[in-house]
Amino acid sequence: MQYGGWFQIAFERDLTAELTTIPVGSLKLLCVRRPSGVEVYDAVCPHRGADLSVNGRLVEQSVVCGYHGYRITLGRGGNERFCVRRYHSITVGGLVFALIGRDDPGELPAFLKALATSHEIVPGWEKTIRVAPELVIENAFDAAHFKPIHDVKEVRAQPPVMERGVFTVDATLRVGPSAWQGGASDDSTFIDVPLLARAFSPNLTITTIAMGGDHPHHVIAGAVPQPDGTCKVRLSIAMPRPADGSAPNQEVAQLILQYESMGLEQDRPVWENLTVDATTNYVPEDATILAYRKFCDQFRFDRAARLGDDKVAHDYRRKSRAADAERAGADENPSARN
Ligand code: FES
Ligand SMILES: [Fe+2]
Repeated sequence: MQYGGWFQIAFERDLTAELTTIPVGSLKLLCVRRPSGVEVYDAVCPHRGADLSVNGRLVEQSVVCGYHGYRITLGRGGNERFCVRRYHSITVGGLVFALIGRDDPGELPAFLKALATSHEIVPGWEKTIRVAPELVIENAFDAAHFKPIHDVKEVRAQPPVMERGVFTVDATLRVGPSAWQGGASDDSTFIDVPLLARAFSPNLTITTIAMGGDHPHHVIAGAVPQPDGTCKVRLSIAMPRPADGSAPNQEVAQLILQYESMGLEQDRPVWENLTVDATTNYVPEDATILAYRKFCDQFRFDRAARLGDDKVAHDYRRKSRAADAERAGADENPSARN
């Protein structure tokens, strides 16, 4: 896993058990479903590494591990030796987000809160693709790919700006009825679609699309690395609530989700056959992509630093590992080797 930051780790509808483990790259996150909402913790038992959702039992603020039966505190407090860290998480409109490798939640919580008041979030679909998550997110900013892959007639994009830590690009796409649908375009029916793409992390983007004039919908796209090198893409939309208080048109919502799905399938063959370590020859039109890469660099995931955040638990684990090694008669002194 290369980058941390915000991830959409699940759809709430998929958390059918009290304890569910979700892989995020090399990490395992434990989703704990309570009447008050979803909480997210490390899923690895600090005793000997069992997955806490496997045969584990939720008892108030702890999980009784299913391997040796020790009681593992969820979050800090209580038994500090046997505890797992909690992650900042948000559940909104059936989507579950977690913040990994960083302490500052940034703009996403406030953005989602505002979005949920003006829009109805329609949970969408999930796909597995053999590509790094940051390339899925980058797609929204890669103006040059829209024409050959998505049959977009023209893209006019402003240079990227950072809005309170969010990588933002304002663009207009000239599209025909064939865009995202395949088939031939008729020049007379092209329309201009303004869109504003915002990356909150290299794993999450929310794009505001003003297809129907004043009432834009939003596309929420997240990509989560998997232990086998693929990534899980989850895509949902937020539909504007009509002024009369009625529900947004579900047929339109499903149609948009279908278009987005077709769009991703158009990208898939390119992504899955990409040579990621090829020598690149960037051209001036790639400036936005290079700026995006720079943005991603701030999210570089450092597992050691992450453990350092949770110093108390880490120290206990380190000490207990050292004690185990001593008991096992292992030679802990490198100078005595050879
Ligand atoms: S691995 Fe969890 S109690 Fe032993
Ligand atoms: Fe694309």
